[in-house]
Amino acid sequence: MWEIFILLILSAAAYFITDELIPNLTDLFVKAGLFGIDLCKTSKKKIPEAIGVVSGCVFLITSFLFIPIVFGNGLMDTQQFPHNEFAELLAGLLSICCMLLLGFADDVLDLRWRYKLLLPTVASLPLLVVYYVNFNSTTFVVPIPLRQWLGVSINIGVLYYIYMGMLAVFCTNAINILAGINGLEVGQSVVIAFSIVIFDIIELRGDQYKAHTFSLHIMIPYLATTLALLKHNWYPSKVFVGDTFCYVSGMTFAVVAILSHFSKTVLLFFLPQIINFLYSVPQLFHIIPCPRHRLPKYSEETDLLHASRTIIAKKEMTALTKLIFRVLTMLRLIDKTEDTESITINNMTLINLFLIKLGPIPEVQLTTWLMAFQIACTCVAFVIRYPLASYFYDS
Ligand code: UD1
Ligand code: MG
Repeated sequence: MWEIFILLILSAAAYFITDELIPNLTDLFVKAGLFGIDLCKTSKKKIPEAIGVVSGCVFLITSFLFIPIVFGNGLMDTQQFPHNEFAELLAGLLSICCMLLLGFADDVLDLRWRYKLLLPTVASLPLLVVYYVNFNSTTFVVPIPLRQWLGVSINIGVLYYIYMGMLAVFCTNAINILAGINGLEVGQSVVIAFSIVIFDIIELRGDQYKAHTFSLHIMIPYLATTLALLKHNWYPSKVFVGDTFCYVSGMTFAVVAILSHFSKTVLLFFLPQIINFLYSVPQLFHIIPCPRHRLPKYSEETDLLHASRTIIAKKEMTALTKLIFRVLTMLRLIDKTEDTESITINNMTLINLFLIKLGPIPEVQLTTWLMAFQIACTCVAFVIRYPLASYFYDS
């Protein structure tokens, strides 16, 4: 356990370094053309973008410095060196490092969506290889009510690897599309990271303690550097985190989910992101027009945010579009107005859905509501994971 205390000290230093570095580097980013305009403010000031690269680099450096500490005993006695665990940590850090590079490339070059799907798949390959060599366990435990038909467990073989690859793609992009208001990308990541840390601490006394210690080794420095980033990204944002941050975060969560074997629990912590993704599907697959930005619309007169909208010409509507509208209207999940030529609906994101339900509200209040929802979902996740799971799985 002593290495966790050293990691806590290293991470505290990482927090202060990130906090110092960010304001000192902002001018460099603006000079290099890496800036964005805050679309929910009156001022059209240049705000440095892709600052996630700073927190990401400090996170990786802290993890690298920690390697000789955690493997110190093995280094003294090289015969006993735990090569498997070492390969796991290196593969995890390699995947995160790849995502940092690819995310930064995305921020600089503004890549197309197909590459945003391809990049995390490629970056997850080192993870999958290590998983194959170290575990290669591709069986799912079947929930008790289904066992009479399916048996106790099913081996899904190669499908398990496809599932893990898709998990990396999902985690990275899901955070990136629940974005657009100050502090939201970082805020949601902080809540998810805290949830994972709490889960790890609870499970440290169980027989999977090694896997949870591994997860803590990654999550603690990640959380420290991300908290420093949140300080500068919270309303009113002095820096934007960019896709770099979303990719690094998503891959960090995917790494612990896969290598610590608790992908289902991590997915439970992603409940708001899953809801946002499912709600966004018609726009993501262009069944309904998807503008470049779906973030809320800012009203200069009132300083409040309203749901942003998209227009669909009636003559371009297919049977599928009509069906989606009918179902969503019945469930009261869209705000729709129509004239003879076209239909106008809100952009289908969780952020706009909150605005439809709560009415126009200030930006900081909207971020706080979404954070509260993320925390509430974590509580639901723990209820599902502990009391409820015992009905479906043997403890
Ligand atoms: C994703 C979303 C897009 C959303 C954008 C906001 C999908 C398919 N894509 O695109 O709808 O508008 O994120 O980040 O859902 N910005 C602000 N305030 C903030 C954060 C960002 O105004 O608090 C604006 C800035 O102009 C910034 C830009 O968003 O420059 C960054 O957008 P980017 O991350 O490049 O958008 P995507 O990830 O492609
Ligand atoms: Mg983005």
